[in-house]
Amino acid sequence: MPTRSLFLPFFCLLLFAVACTHDQALPEDPIDTGLPCSPDVVYFPLDVLPILEGNCAFGGCHDAGTRAEGVQLDSYVNVVTTGEVKPGKPQNSELYEVITETNNDKRMPPPPYAPLSDAQKAIIEKWILQGAKNLTCTPEGSCNTTNVSFAATVVPILETGCLGCHGAEVYQIAGDGINLSGYDAVKAVAQNGKLFGSINHSSGFSPMPKGGSKLPNCQINQIKSWIDAGAPNN
Ligand code: HEC
Repeated sequence: MPTRSLFLPFFCLLLFAVACTHDQALPEDPIDTGLPCSPDVVYFPLDVLPILEGNCAFGGCHDAGTRAEGVQLDSYVNVVTTGEVKPGKPQNSELYEVITETNNDKRMPPPPYAPLSDAQKAIIEKWILQGAKNLTCTPEGSCNTTNVSFAATVVPILETGCLGCHGAEVYQIAGDGINLSGYDAVKAVAQNGKLFGSINHSSGFSPMPKGGSKLPNCQINQIKSWIDAGAPNN
């Protein structure tokens, strides 16, 4: 029967087409909105990925090499699929459940790592509520590098991308003994040249954040300006 012999290949082709459309629904490359960045929108590559790179996607945990429990948190598609993110439904998303878990035996990151901050959890929740999209935007205005404040500018950058390994609880085990929490500790690393050397990926220094993307130029310039001003406690 010609109709029957045609059915199977046709059916396979259909399945294949469906599988392809499904893949297209999850773009690895961010979609540029072409609009100035809005404080109301969560942008995955700018807001979410740096938190995951700084706190989860490293060796022994959720990088490509280890993939603990099959979870790999180093790119958009991997975060959505292996983190079982359900767009619009943070409570049903595995990624959000484990970071908000209050039971220490179940929460992520697990002890002795510190839990994510409330602000970081809120960003991830908002991102899922907004559809867990992979959007990016055009940064507006210039980068402000004058009178950079330690508390208002430097600390939040370190909290997002560095304290997952260099925090007070874990720097001895995960950060090679380099403590970046608290003014005195950061000042010491700023003044011995290692802070700028590592984030600028200067030769002779280990590039930081380890295993993650380089910080945006604006943040690197802000930290440099703060160091050049004498690393004040402002
Ligand atoms: C995934 C864990 C991890 C993250 C995230 C991380 N570091 Fe590191 N850092 C390390 C390790 C481990 C070392 C030891 C050197 C190495 O293994 O490359 C190190 C070394 C350093 C050094 C010493 C570099 C040198 O050449 O002596 C500095 C400074 C540093 N980190 C700063 C940072 C800053 C700033 C950030 C955030 C922008 C950051 N690190 C993010 C793990 C991390």
